[in-house]
Amino acid sequence: MLIKRSPNGIDLPFSSEITPRAVFESRRSFMRQMALGAVAGGALLESLGQEALAQGLNPKLAAKLNPAYSALDKQSAYKDATSYNNFYEFGTDKSDPAQNAHTLKTQPWTVSIEGEVKKPLTLDLDALLKLAPLEERVYRLRCVEGWSMVIPWVGYSLSELIKRVEPTGNAKYVEFITLADKKQMPGVGSRVLQWPYVEGLRLDEANHPLTLLTLGMYGETLPKQNGAPVRIVVPWKYGFKSAKSIVKIRFVREMPRTAWNLAAPSEYGFYSNVNPEVDHPRWSQASERRIGEDGFFVRKRKTLMFNGYSDVASLYSGMDLKKFF
Ligand code: MTE
Repeated sequence: MLIKRSPNGIDLPFSSEITPRAVFESRRSFMRQMALGAVAGGALLESLGQEALAQGLNPKLAAKLNPAYSALDKQSAYKDATSYNNFYEFGTDKSDPAQNAHTLKTQPWTVSIEGEVKKPLTLDLDALLKLAPLEERVYRLRCVEGWSMVIPWVGYSLSELIKRVEPTGNAKYVEFITLADKKQMPGVGSRVLQWPYVEGLRLDEANHPLTLLTLGMYGETLPKQNGAPVRIVVPWKYGFKSAKSIVKIRFVREMPRTAWNLAAPSEYGFYSNVNPEVDHPRWSQASERRIGEDGFFVRKRKTLMFNGYSDVASLYSGMDLKKFF
């Protein structure tokens, strides 16, 4: 992956780390007001184009905050979350997805769920939106490159979908296959990765309630550069596990070959749990730069084991996480 490193800083806790709930709420309702004011109709309106996106005008997506799954860290600015992205189908610079993703056609869209399941399904966006109550969950996302953000995502546990297709006893892993269409995606065809971008989880990881089938962020449908119309977010793993613009979910027997693992197997393992004790071969993973906290006195944060989501540790008991990185 391309690396952008900030000058080294000192690890200090930030006093601004914890934002009072009231401030969150007013920020959230402001975003919702903006979306409401600008868009009439249901949640499935055609996306509004780049200029509108930049102004926060995606169709709104009402969701109830799930405090049990929400980090109290200060949320990243919408502008940062939508202009500093990794989405190689639209180019490798952080600013490319925001500039280029307007060509992505998100409607109609279907996700087919297949493989080792008793009840395969093909769902359109409407069906996905209605499958389970939408929740807002504020998750930290830590990129393998050494930066992180805190984003209020909208979706529901992937396990809601998994239980409907009834995986067979042979299903050991879940593979996420994303759109790869050269006509819509100028980066597809570049040799940086094999396309489509594929990611995968072990079935128990996919079933963990934190694994979020994600349809929106900041109270709106997903902006295109963030993986519209549907992605996953796996907050205890490096960001590249959180595949964007998913078209197929396959339940399989064998560990899937994933895009980054195929590109550089010694650098990107299948598990890719956030782990400050296991460095990337080319850089340390002990600390991170929180986007939005740049400035003259750049202070890096200590990276937390499992990105701070210690509940997931039981998924890996008995495993050597240096070996299964
Ligand atoms: N999904 C697809 N299809 N293509 C990509 O290039 N990049 C990954 C992940 N999902 C990527 C992807 C990486 S490296 C990261 S860090 C996150 O998306 C970034 O998500 P964000 O831009 O919404 O913060």
